[in-house]
Amino acid sequence: MGKTWGGRFGQETHALVEELTASIHYDQNLYVWDILGSKAHARMLTACGVLTQPDLEAILRGLDEVQQEIEAGKLEFTNRLEDIHTHVEHRLIEKIGEPGRKLHTARSRNDQVATDFRLYLRNEVDQILALLHNFQCTLVALAEQHVDTLFPGYTHLQRAQPIVFGHHLLAYYEMLQRDSARFRECRQRINVLPLGVAALAGTSYPIDRQAVARELGFDQVAANSLDAVSDRDFAIEFSAHAAILMMHLSRLCEELILWSSIEFGFIELSDAFCTGSSIMPQKKNPDVAELIRGKTGRVYGHLMSLLTLMKSLPLTYNRDMQEDKEPVFDIAATLNISLRVFPEMLRNMKVNNVQIAQTLEGGFMTATEVADYLVRRGVSFRTAHGIVGELIRYSLGAGKTLQELSLEEYQRISEKFDEAVLDVVTPQQAVNCKTSVGGTAPHNVFRAIQAAKDQLGIH
Ligand code: ARG
Repeated sequence: MGKTWGGRFGQETHALVEELTASIHYDQNLYVWDILGSKAHARMLTACGVLTQPDLEAILRGLDEVQQEIEAGKLEFTNRLEDIHTHVEHRLIEKIGEPGRKLHTARSRNDQVATDFRLYLRNEVDQILALLHNFQCTLVALAEQHVDTLFPGYTHLQRAQPIVFGHHLLAYYEMLQRDSARFRECRQRINVLPLGVAALAGTSYPIDRQAVARELGFDQVAANSLDAVSDRDFAIEFSAHAAILMMHLSRLCEELILWSSIEFGFIELSDAFCTGSSIMPQKKNPDVAELIRGKTGRVYGHLMSLLTLMKSLPLTYNRDMQEDKEPVFDIAATLNISLRVFPEMLRNMKVNNVQIAQTLEGGFMTATEVADYLVRRGVSFRTAHGIVGELIRYSLGAGKTLQELSLEEYQRISEKFDEAVLDVVTPQQAVNCKTSVGGTAPHNVFRAIQAAKDQLGIH
């Protein structure tokens, strides 16, 4: 089987070299984009008078057939033909002969692969954006059901202050909103056309790169031929945004795992989203959340691979860069499945309000309210903090919650207390008064939900 570049070689390629250099086992993923790019290139070459109309017709028909063969699993992939670009071209030439041999005019695999990869990634980003939108809609719908559900807020995983559950969920909405903005922004930098710069220097053919850009939906053409074939920062940027997104997902996973334990008992995940144990019959494990949490690691790893891959590479194309695809493919696949399953898991979980309400009784979560109450009575915050500290020490000794203490007990610690303190120590009152911008007061949360719906366009 002749190599596209075989002319200057006197010896056959060593079989091990073919095994090392081949990328067809994974870059076959790019076949749709490769063929789409080739069609646009051929149309442009024809419009510019480089190819004839009959050449073009043969090429378009041939490429369609090659695509059908690939989709039917009929095209045999072999390491000897290296990659998807040579496979498509080789098969095209087998089918249509001479016109097929003209397709690679004014083109190199260097600008070709960069174009394919960008088309692929743009499509992945669009899917991720749609999935993020769906995820956010789920969070908002769930938050809407829990505008008034009191919930323990934590710092250091120690009970801190009461919040409402809807507010907690909307924190994730905000994270995903930033993730989405990052992906949208990176899409703009992905959507720049390399094709037409050929190997690295540009070409002497009278080509029309703008026409190719228009046909393929690129916003711009790459301005510098060297940069066009050697830039992979678009892929690194995508991976960095993916790593951040996975970090966000892993935090929610961790919380779901904790919350679904008997120790917390805040939620119950649906059976359909859990798995069992091969030995312990009673077990129901939150494997979906664990796996998404775990997959975060591989996405971080891929980001590091790509950064290391590109580090110190001299301009322009280097074969090292063929290693850019597997990490990105795996990241995209990981994001895709994670973002598809996660909202479903959330929609199907049960929130255990009774158990949650019980936790609000322990842990002195309204201690800050008592300090603020004293401040309203003219005590400085630092002094108030000390008084309430004493009050907590007393309560721990007496085995009572702040709500269970009598007024006399409060007054034993400070005569600043009057019966109004008994109202401020309820979790409900604690959340109701958190009306500062971004705070957890149910009315704020209600408004945040309306704002989120506006952003999502789902009224
Ligand atoms: N399979 C190669 C890659 O993914 C295509 C470009 C090859 N170019 C070259 N000059 N060998 O990077």
